[in-house]
Amino acid sequence: MRKDFFFGVDTSAYQVEGAWNEDGKGESIWDRFCHDARDNKVYRNENADVACDQYHRYKEDIEHMGTIGVNAHRFSVSWARVIPSGTGKVNEAGLRYYHNFIDELIKQGIEPFLTMYHWDLPQALQDRGGWANPDMVGWWLEYATVLFREFGSKVKYWISYNEPCVFIMGGYGNIGFPPCMRNYKTALAAGHIAMKAHFESVKLLHKMVPGAKMGIALDMVPRVPATDKQEDIDIVPLANDTAFYWFYNVMAKGEYPERAVKEYEKRGYMFEITDYDRALFKNNPCDFIGINYYSTAAVSYNPEPVTDGFLHYNIVPRAEKLGGMEVDPDGLRNIIRKAAADTEGKIPIIVTENGCGSDCECLDENGELHDDYRIKYLQLHSQAVKDCVDEGIDVRGYFVWSYWDLFEWALGSSWRFGLIYVDYETQKRTPKDSWYWYKQYIKDNKVE
Ligand code: BGC
Repeated sequence: MRKDFFFGVDTSAYQVEGAWNEDGKGESIWDRFCHDARDNKVYRNENADVACDQYHRYKEDIEHMGTIGVNAHRFSVSWARVIPSGTGKVNEAGLRYYHNFIDELIKQGIEPFLTMYHWDLPQALQDRGGWANPDMVGWWLEYATVLFREFGSKVKYWISYNEPCVFIMGGYGNIGFPPCMRNYKTALAAGHIAMKAHFESVKLLHKMVPGAKMGIALDMVPRVPATDKQEDIDIVPLANDTAFYWFYNVMAKGEYPERAVKEYEKRGYMFEITDYDRALFKNNPCDFIGINYYSTAAVSYNPEPVTDGFLHYNIVPRAEKLGGMEVDPDGLRNIIRKAAADTEGKIPIIVTENGCGSDCECLDENGELHDDYRIKYLQLHSQAVKDCVDEGIDVRGYFVWSYWDLFEWALGSSWRFGLIYVDYETQKRTPKDSWYWYKQYIKDNKVE
């Protein structure tokens, strides 16, 4: 592997930190959503008030991370810990926590990859409309200014958002994640506000922290035809453009995919794109393309829209699985190749997430966890990345989701993705077999 390759692991603030209201932290939309959840809208009505208790255990946790040999860790900052009401007063204790956290990473020789937003919007901003309010651009830049000023001397790699399709389409469109708006037109407009905020913050970062790099961790679930029927094949391009390629295209080519724009225009969903916006997107390319990849999704044509928005297809479950996950490493190969082609090889690519979840994992009688399915899954996907590097594509990193088991959003503690098992009662951490596998993999592939 190339010398500057990042072998990383991931987490996000809400999923690991706990301490949901300690030391001045404000409430986030996920705090509110889980606290209000009834009837198993969140698994067993759980919440991440404690999660992995990382707020109190970060030092031992990062020290332990030092022993696996990773040279990068992607984590996120909780906006509401840093600015409890989203705008205005800054919480010094929150800043101190992230300074300590980052310092600990650096001490272990681990490059911090800082995600600024992994879905946990301050509730106070949601009360003012959240991403659907055009003022979000200004609120975002205020938050960005604080982060760049505080951490710019320590953090070189920045990720503005984790998975815009999830928090925008999922939160404002058709999935039912907070704020559960369920209005596709609003979702598309909110997505445009988020894109504007992203590009303005790229400009700001380059001004405030010369040499720093910013991208987005894009959720990529490429659609593939479920059968070889012509109608299934024909639906794929539009199915992709109206879903995960919607934001990807903006990152890779500086514009929304034309086919989807036309479709949305027909349905009266489109929002205004000004000349200023067009120039902003075109003239400020991101510094890297982040790809979060788990699998492709097989689609079959449905003449009726399945939900609000454009969804003339059903997702068809496939048989082959490892753990609880469908497996298609070729999908990762293809999406990396596509990103390289779309950007004419000019923008580096980082696989910012890849991992294998399971909904039935526990320690055996010897206190061990033999997750050979996860090892197999990671072998297949890391090989796909390696193949792309060998083809000469500029891929700079591979991050495993997740380092520890953590709070899996609406699925709560029922799904586990970690290389390390966490007993949420005792907070005891136990490396799984996959932890030892990844440690060896890094040793064999890292060029010192
Ligand atoms: C998200 C993570 C999540 C993981 C597994 C990703 O899409 O970024 O927060 O835990 O998938 O579902």
